[in-house]
Amino acid sequence: LRQFSLQYTMSSRSISKVTVIGAGLMGSGIAQVSAQSGYQVTLVDLNEQLLGKAVQSIQTSLERVAKKQLKDRPEEAKQLVSKTMANLATSQSAADAAKSADLVVEAVVENLELKRSLYRQLDSTAPAGCLFASNTSSLGIAELAEAVPNRKPTFGGLHFFNPVPVMRLVEVVRTPDITEAAFNQLLEFSRSLGKSAVPCKDTPGFIVNRLLVPYLTEAVRMLERGDATAEDIDTAMRLGAGHPMGPIELADYVGLDTTKFIMDGWHAKFPNVELFKPSDMLNKLVEEGRLGRKTGLGFYKWDSKGSKL
Ligand code: NAI
Repeated sequence: LRQFSLQYTMSSRSISKVTVIGAGLMGSGIAQVSAQSGYQVTLVDLNEQLLGKAVQSIQTSLERVAKKQLKDRPEEAKQLVSKTMANLATSQSAADAAKSADLVVEAVVENLELKRSLYRQLDSTAPAGCLFASNTSSLGIAELAEAVPNRKPTFGGLHFFNPVPVMRLVEVVRTPDITEAAFNQLLEFSRSLGKSAVPCKDTPGFIVNRLLVPYLTEAVRMLERGDATAEDIDTAMRLGAGHPMGPIELADYVGLDTTKFIMDGWHAKFPNVELFKPSDMLNKLVEEGRLGRKTGLGFYKWDSKGSKL
């Protein structure tokens, strides 16, 4: 009976308060789209300076969205911004911010131990039945949930894409232990943000990165072997496969360090999978600090506004 009543409480908690942990690139975006959709959002980071910067970037992004969506209605545009900003609060304490949360979305740096210790803090204060979700790109959701075994029935993945306000996809990741009700709530939450929600299993890279990261690395290997030039590989995939951007340019765009970091993680876990093996060329570029678009130099040169030269 206890089991039943616990499950019942867990599935009956509807979402109105969302706590987003990590106010970086992804966390800011997730907080923005949640506040825009009417949720009461608390955004958490380590200090006031980081939070101030995040709030400023959310405001700027909202103004851009409002101007575009409500071109001829400046009064409504203003209201959209002020209404959304009114739904947004900040905090420097994850444990405090989780106290009344219905959903916690974690988007802190990609580090297993750091994320696990954060989940233990959240566990000490979050209400029973609060949904826990990670935005991790490359770590296993079940591995993260191991830190808080009693939360496993309400623990899943919500994998957003950068930039969050623009990209329409969320991968909703199912672990073997999440209840159907909690999983459905994560799907519904993603849809309520205006996103397309794709359910998927808790496998390395989920859907998009599992296909994309090895593809980018295969393109680098092709370059490494001298099969074709970077420009020709990119032209071939744009014109031959109809992709909007070729893989070498896309690797620069994503960040060569990010690509390498994800592959290295998978290689350590699955050393026999050929597709996950490291590339010397990628390693060398990262070692030299040539990380792609964000450093102005990767396989290509990029200007300060982020356009390819
Ligand atoms: P980021 O480096 O821009 O932001 C991370 C933020 O977490 C920083 O502001 C940092 O101060 C904060 N933080 C670190 N420890 C904290 C703690 N204990 N409590 C509160 N805040 C803390 O990183 P980004 O790119 O936003 O990535 C965050 C997560 O999202 C990672 O798990 C990453 O794998 C995932 N992700 C990243 C994507 C991307 O394109 N950058 C795409 C999809 C997922």
